Amino acid sequence: METRFRMNFGEPLQVGEMLVVENETSEDRYLIRVMDILHGADSDEKDWLVTHAGQALKQDAEMDVFDLERIKGKLYCAGISIPLGCIGTTFRKTKTIPHHFSKVRRTDIRDYEFLKESLGDIQVGNLRSGDQVLDFPVGITGQAIPHHIGIFATTGMGKSNLMKNLALSCMSIRRYGFLILDPHGEYYDGGEAKKRGLKHAGRPDSLVVFSSRKLDGPYNSLFLASSEIEIADLQNLYEFTEPQKECMQSAQYRYGENWLVELNDRSVAAISKDLGEKYHEGTINVIKRRLENLFRLDLVTRDPKLSVTKNIIDSLHDCKVVLVDTSNMFETEELLISTVLSRAIFERNKELYGDKERFDRLPPVLIALEEAQRVLTEAKGSIFAQIAREGRKFKTGLCAVSQQPKLIDSEIISQFNTLFVLGLADRRDRDILKNSAKQDISQLENEIQMLMPGEALIASPFTPFAVPVKIHLYEEYLSKLPAKGAEKVASTRTVPDKGFY
Ligand SMILES: Nc1ncnc2c1ncn2[C@@H]1O[C@H](COP(=O)(O)OP(=O)(O)OP(=O)(O)O)[C@@H](O)[C@H]1O
Ligand SMILES: [Mg+2]
Repeated sequence: METRFRMNFGEPLQVGEMLVVENETSEDRYLIRVMDILHGADSDEKDWLVTHAGQALKQDAEMDVFDLERIKGKLYCAGISIPLGCIGTTFRKTKTIPHHFSKVRRTDIRDYEFLKESLGDIQVGNLRSGDQVLDFPVGITGQAIPHHIGIFATTGMGKSNLMKNLALSCMSIRRYGFLILDPHGEYYDGGEAKKRGLKHAGRPDSLVVFSSRKLDGPYNSLFLASSEIEIADLQNLYEFTEPQKECMQSAQYRYGENWLVELNDRSVAAISKDLGEKYHEGTINVIKRRLENLFRLDLVTRDPKLSVTKNIIDSLHDCKVVLVDTSNMFETEELLISTVLSRAIFERNKELYGDKERFDRLPPVLIALEEAQRVLTEAKGSIFAQIAREGRKFKTGLCAVSQQPKLIDSEIISQFNTLFVLGLADRRDRDILKNSAKQDISQLENEIQMLMPGEALIASPFTPFAVPVKIHLYEEYLSKLPAKGAEKVASTRTVPDKGFY
């Protein structure tokens, strides 16, 4: 599983770079990836390198010049590589090793031809070898949506930028529904002066925006009908004692669909009377105090016609990107919206499953959650855990965005088949991804630590190996985008190969 190769002194090489090993006896080539690089010297003497370094120091102290030229011929570097596969008429896993002393060279675009069919229609960047960006677009296939997508990186490594690229791609191809829940207010207009958002994408027909704060541009106000909120949804947000839960059930029974509004509007005494004096005033008070938060922004309405849920689901089924900006809300309100909308989408798709013809026409829908570790912690009970487990069948996928994948329940994270791994500083975060990725990324530890902002690995069952990619910088990509409809023509660039054996 490890092949060593040697290069001359001074030959540049990077961890993560992909190289080709030529096969003298057949057309087949081996594609390998550099995992580590070592120094070496041709000498029988033990510690020859250290001895010469000592000499250099000594000469330096004596103001003498150390003659590197004299010993250069003895110096080399060795690359340690892992096999990615064998490129022949098809691409296949490697079951053999290259001959001794095979030639190793840098790759050129033609070596990656085989990847074209597996690199999907939702494009987000270019293929990368080390930090060299190749003129070869990379993305994920829409098939991956119901199998869930994870975007994991330490803060500042490019998660939000990647999300904007996913949204832009979805807006251009119009084949999938994409719901983005935005608690940071960064996706509509970029959030900061120099950044750009989805409103700058120039695809107003493909974008529908909902917000409870004022936005500079067309948007819809955000309302949920109280009839759409279930006790289970509230339980996701707050801990309730048994008596409090029973009290809410009684209220639901007594007031019907509008139970939440009634609980909020009526006085404690009136509620107590309506519920047959069965509950402590303190119990009712706690419930009312918690509801106050939800009614602060007039988020919950009595009138089901005002609710945005149907509009959002229809837009998603119409292959649009739906942005829900919750940035002026408290966390509880924001989580309530995520919960209620996700459940509504999932249940609507489940309902349509019975109508085969309709269901077949339904596009896969992706629901993106920022700070996903907050809602994917316990496996039981939450709607998100349920979608992670059953969404595949009902064309509903989750896109979890998180800085701390280690906090996500391990059973849930194993349901995420496509992973975008960006730079992750914490070993425990890398470990959990290593264990759940559908490709072996255990040997890519060095590489993952060295990723710069925007550099990612895509591990997915739909690609033959974890594909290294440089995500477009959204702002830069938008500014270079040709007029709507024009296609970018890919050029082929070859890189000279020399110096590897
Ligand atoms: N693909 C990229 N190419 C170049 N630079 C990038 C790329 N992606 C991100 N960056 C740089 O990194 C910065 C932070 O990116 P971004 O806001 O997407 O990170 P994040 O992972 O969402 O961070 P946080 O966890 O704080 O939300 C960007 O402002 C940009 O300067
Ligand atoms: Mg972010």
